[in-house]
Amino acid sequence: MLTVQNLEKSFGGIRAVDGCSFEVEDETITGLIGPNGAGKTTVFNLISGFYQPDGGKILFRENRIDDLPPYRIPHLRLARTFQITRELQKMTVIDNLMVAPLDQMGESLWNSWFRIPSVKNQERKIKEKALDVLDFLEIEDLKDEYAGNLSGGQKKLLEFGRTMMTDPELILLDEPGAGINPTLMKKLNGYIETLRSEESMTFFLIEHDMDLVMQLCDPIIVMSEGKKLAEGSAREIQENEKVLEAYLGG
Ligand SMILES: Nc1ncnc2c1ncn2[C@@H]1O[C@H](COP(=O)(O)OP(=O)(O)O)[C@@H](O)[C@H]1O
Ligand SMILES: [Mg+2]
Repeated sequence: MLTVQNLEKSFGGIRAVDGCSFEVEDETITGLIGPNGAGKTTVFNLISGFYQPDGGKILFRENRIDDLPPYRIPHLRLARTFQITRELQKMTVIDNLMVAPLDQMGESLWNSWFRIPSVKNQERKIKEKALDVLDFLEIEDLKDEYAGNLSGGQKKLLEFGRTMMTDPELILLDEPGAGINPTLMKKLNGYIETLRSEESMTFFLIEHDMDLVMQLCDPIIVMSEGKKLAEGSAREIQENEKVLEAYLGG
């Protein structure tokens, strides 16, 4: 589904991503791990079009996407999580979901879209979709709550829900487990599993919590110093000496 070839990105003198290559296969939950500063978030920013690579290629369903502007990316049905910003905190949960396609599309596109006469009909469809997402995530009761009043974990669920609004085939998650309690994490795992098995979605996620990665992800890609260091099942990764060294060294 996703191919990354010899990807390179530097910031000043720092080679954040230094000739990284890997693939994400259809209907997997692929994990991306590695010591702090390995280049994981930069890889996500390159895939989602926030940065342009200095070198290499990114292909989604065999089409190059590394030269597209960011607002084109969601049209490819590739979504990522965004933190609930201060502006979004002042909006209700349902409105957060309803404007999610706006954030993913880019504002200029959204504005032109709003001039289309069939827009009312579209708006109704978006609302139905938002209600479906809330139902799926079991937070319908929070529909009219201001996002700013949600707990940290509920905000994470909302961030996740926002990615689902554009019916993506591939969802990128950067540390979905950060700051959420084990009970909610178990639920989130369940949702990810269900979306993969029943909706054929593919997940690519960065996570620090090793227990979580080992349970949820197969395969797991390990990055170190801007490159792919290893790839394999949880067991293979745990037994890999190079991986252990990279973590101890870091
Ligand atoms: N926007 C940026 N400007 C300057 N340096 C950056 C920027 N983003 C990342 N870096 C640097 O690139 C390296 C990789 O960072 P990052 O991709 O965030 O790693 P990870 O997510 O694996 O912890 C780090 O040395 C980081 O300081
Ligand atoms: Mg990071």
